Amino acid sequence: MIKACIFDLDGVIVDTAKYHYLAWKRLAEELNINFNEEDNERLKGVSRMKSLDIILEIGNITLKESEKLEFADKKNKWYREYILKMEETEILPGVKIFLNQLKQNNLKIAIGSASKNALTILQRLNLIDIFDSIIDGNKVSKAKPDPEVFIKAAQEMHIKPEECVVFEDSIAGIQAAKIGQMKTIGVGNHQTLKEADKIINGFKNIDLKILEF
Ligand code: BG6
Ligand code: MG
Repeated sequence: MIKACIFDLDGVIVDTAKYHYLAWKRLAEELNINFNEEDNERLKGVSRMKSLDIILEIGNITLKESEKLEFADKKNKWYREYILKMEETEILPGVKIFLNQLKQNNLKIAIGSASKNALTILQRLNLIDIFDSIIDGNKVSKAKPDPEVFIKAAQEMHIKPEECVVFEDSIAGIQAAKIGQMKTIGVGNHQTLKEADKIINGFKNIDLKILEF
């Protein structure tokens, strides 16, 4: 029986993927690299430095570690300009209602995100207090598809992995949850997320029945 739900943040609770894309695109232009929305799919769920590596690989560019850190910082500065303007209305449709339903039914809820900006985003959205546990990119050392982020969330909630379900929009995230022995619900594209136990388009009209496996 499912006792807890762990949510990825970017692309599940809120569509920050578009801000990540705009900031990476600006950086790619500065480096004279052609980078489009299809390439951007590969960056979902992936850490900041790994994302930069993918972009540099696309442009066939090699940089020193110190230069890479500078470029990653630059991208993050641009990205933060977007997220610092975010508003509660940007929470994706149905998410708040679903989270409240889970709480009312005594299920635990957590965030399991690769982002080091997760707390800033959750603060902007007034969503900090609703979660029983928030594990973000500052609290893990291994990136998805390693299950560390989800295992830590389950541990903080005192719930066994097999009693958790993970909501994810990235392939790396679905794989991480599966390796961690958790149930998986893909949020978004059915073809991309076909490895998940279930797939939904979003949280509009989703209720607790989705947790029956
Ligand atoms: C993930 C996003 O949630 O966080 C990735 O899907 C992003 O696109 C990663 O690169 C790291 O985010 P941040 O905010 O620490 O650069
Ligand atoms: Mg995501």
